[in-house]
Amino acid sequence: MDTLIKLPGFVDVHVHLREPGATQKEDFSTGTKAAIAGGYTQVLDMPNNNPPTLDKAALDNKIKLATGKIWSDLGFNFGASENSTKYFDQVKKDVFGLKVYMNSTTGNLVITERKKLDLIFRSWQGPLPIMVHAENTLGIAISLAQKYKKKLHVCHMVADQIEMITKAKKSGLQITCEVCPHHLFLTRDDQKSLGTLAMMKPPLLTKAEQDKLWANINKIDMISTDHAHHTLEEKKDKRDVKFGVPGLETTLPLMLNAVFDGKLSLAKLINMLSTKARETFMLPEQPNTYVLVDLTKVYKIKDKKLFTKCNWTPFENMEGRGEIKKVVLRGKTVFSNGSFNTSPSGKIIKPRV
Ligand code: NCD
Ligand code: ZN
Ligand code: ZN
Ligand code: ZN
Repeated sequence: MDTLIKLPGFVDVHVHLREPGATQKEDFSTGTKAAIAGGYTQVLDMPNNNPPTLDKAALDNKIKLATGKIWSDLGFNFGASENSTKYFDQVKKDVFGLKVYMNSTTGNLVITERKKLDLIFRSWQGPLPIMVHAENTLGIAISLAQKYKKKLHVCHMVADQIEMITKAKKSGLQITCEVCPHHLFLTRDDQKSLGTLAMMKPPLLTKAEQDKLWANINKIDMISTDHAHHTLEEKKDKRDVKFGVPGLETTLPLMLNAVFDGKLSLAKLINMLSTKARETFMLPEQPNTYVLVDLTKVYKIKDKKLFTKCNWTPFENMEGRGEIKKVVLRGKTVFSNGSFNTSPSGKIIKPRV
């Protein structure tokens, strides 16, 4: 491998930029700055805001709030509820995935009633996937996707879901899955030192479960950061535990380290960070867009300057590899040697449908 490599801009289909409703945690400007600083040129924002993205007005409001202040390109996933099915037709050309929360997590979007889930899966039309937060409920999601012949995307998959996903793939279902860096690099043992900072949904895995994820890494389609943090004060409040961790700026160094440790190939990493998501979510082309990375740089995660509003990382002190020298978006250098020199030139994106 060369020491300086040129990679395609990364894509993260699962980030929570917290605007509107919780801009003390993150906002469209800081979230997309963090994206670019981490090598991501396209990110898709999740709907579990306050107010949630459950109708056309909430989506239009997000677009309005983000316009003119985003550094990476930004698209939106729509939220599912019994009532939001009314808007599916109106928004389907403007959003990428339909997010269904089948277990409880941040926000109040959880749906458990079979009748409602059935209506939601039946109503979503078009070539884009239904994205599920499904822990013990993955079996239900798969059978509904099979019943209504819908594309399914499994968010933040964990080790005990590998067999079910593999079996569904073999059955002919169009199913993809993503894994998060915190499940690949932290285990339940890290909870002792991290305390509530290590709380997220799904929870951290045991070492044996994590080993199983790595042993099956070539069967996993994408890496998503699930960049979903809270302020340090909010995280430390033990009476009201908040789930979620940041990830946009720490994923590349952790994953490049794994490549150097022989855990996956660089080609597979590029597919997981960019190509596969671009195809699955019908993302628009980004001509002349790339990331230049110096592979010789090895450092401790804490030494890295972060652009997210979040001033903590669960990966503190872990070894990272690869320094981003430059991020070029549509021919314009937006980030180089650790700083942003231009004005924000990210675009709101729509699927190529
Ligand atoms: C996410 C959040 O805080 O928005 N939290 C998390 O623990 N992963 C929601 C989610 O993705 O489930
Ligand atoms: Zn989730
Ligand atoms: Zn999430
Ligand atoms: Zn190493």
